[in-house]
Amino acid sequence: MKVAIITGSSGLIGSESVEFFSGKFDKIIGIDNNMRAYFFGSDGSTEWNKNRLIEKYSNFKHEDVDIRNFDDLGKIFKEYCEDIKLIIHAAAQPSHDWAAKEPLTDFGVNATGTLNLLELTRIYCPEAAFIYTSTNKVYGDTPNVLPLVELEKRWEIDKSHTYFKEGIDEKMSIDQSKHSVFGASKLAADVMVQEYGKYFGLKTGVFRGGCLTGPNHSGAQLHGFLSYLMKCVVTGNHYTVFGYKGKQVRDNIHSLDLVNMFWHFFQNPRQGEVYNAGGGRYANCSMLEAIEYCEKICEKKLSYSYLETNRIGDHIWYISDLSKFKSHYPDWHQKYDLQTTLIDMHNSMIKRF
Ligand SMILES: NC(=O)c1ccc[n+]([C@@H]2O[C@H](COP(=O)([O-])OP(=O)(O)OC[C@H]3O[C@@H](n4cnc5c(N)ncnc54)[C@H](O)[C@@H]3O)[C@@H](O)[C@H]2O)c1
Repeated sequence: MKVAIITGSSGLIGSESVEFFSGKFDKIIGIDNNMRAYFFGSDGSTEWNKNRLIEKYSNFKHEDVDIRNFDDLGKIFKEYCEDIKLIIHAAAQPSHDWAAKEPLTDFGVNATGTLNLLELTRIYCPEAAFIYTSTNKVYGDTPNVLPLVELEKRWEIDKSHTYFKEGIDEKMSIDQSKHSVFGASKLAADVMVQEYGKYFGLKTGVFRGGCLTGPNHSGAQLHGFLSYLMKCVVTGNHYTVFGYKGKQVRDNIHSLDLVNMFWHFFQNPRQGEVYNAGGGRYANCSMLEAIEYCEKICEKKLSYSYLETNRIGDHIWYISDLSKFKSHYPDWHQKYDLQTTLIDMHNSMIKRF
């Protein structure tokens, strides 16, 4: 039997992974305790997505387990042992701002939870591929010292800079910058995933996400900006833009494009490899541009206000360079540009709200 374990299975990336891999594996075990509702309130609850997956996929089994609990996780790994061929670890506390409220909880979920999963993989299924969804926040606020130019609707990197063509690559320093408590707990996990590859020889891959997005995000004010923005335009809720004149630039990768990266990695995994994984030059926007696009698709104006103070450690301009992944996996192709992603999100939201 071929089994995949997917943590955070009711969330954006976890649920996309369940859908993608359910046709490729005999059994998918999803681990999710809906802690997103604890982090972000009812806007963040992923219960609806869990129920959708249970109804739709007969080979999907949901486990309401907390990844901080080594013994509960251990029972699952012990049951399937070497049948486990793939672990996609996408459960997390995902917000900078929330992390500062409860650093111990944040570190427990992001760092210790990841170590629990790595150690169980080493004990029960060392041949499995282990995929970790990291974040560009591991670079801290170092991207903010790049030479940026202010344009009418966005910040952009100076044309003469080496990052202009493709974006920021994996060689950027992860050291001596402000990461936020969230960025630091994710970095601890990121390095540990690399170490289980380099030191123990496990097939581990780290994917440092830019903005990950798609129709199955339970967007909340503190996390999931495109999803929450689109939701506000659709429902008429108020939106707040924080700092940088609304010109901060994010690259946005559709969850399906990211999960397709996982598929390519799984088929030919490497040990302790790190990849930047965002929309890249193909799919990125500033806050102001995103508002315009959403308004156009919804044919409605957003009610929003602007606060001068930016979020602590927030990037002003971040675009991921995907060249390293593309060179290792040349058959992977990005399908969703920003418009296609936004239309996909809009079509799903008008059914949900
Ligand atoms: N969405 C983004 O923009 C983005 C950007 C960069 C990196 N990432 C990373 O990608 C991963 C997936 O992000 P997402 O957007 O799918 O997040 P998400 O919040 O939509 O999904 C995460 C899921 O994990 C679950 N979870 C949280 N704590 C748990 C625990 N202790 N035990 C079990 N389940 C728990 C939550 O209930 C939620 O359903 C995360 O590691 C996140 O840090 C996300």
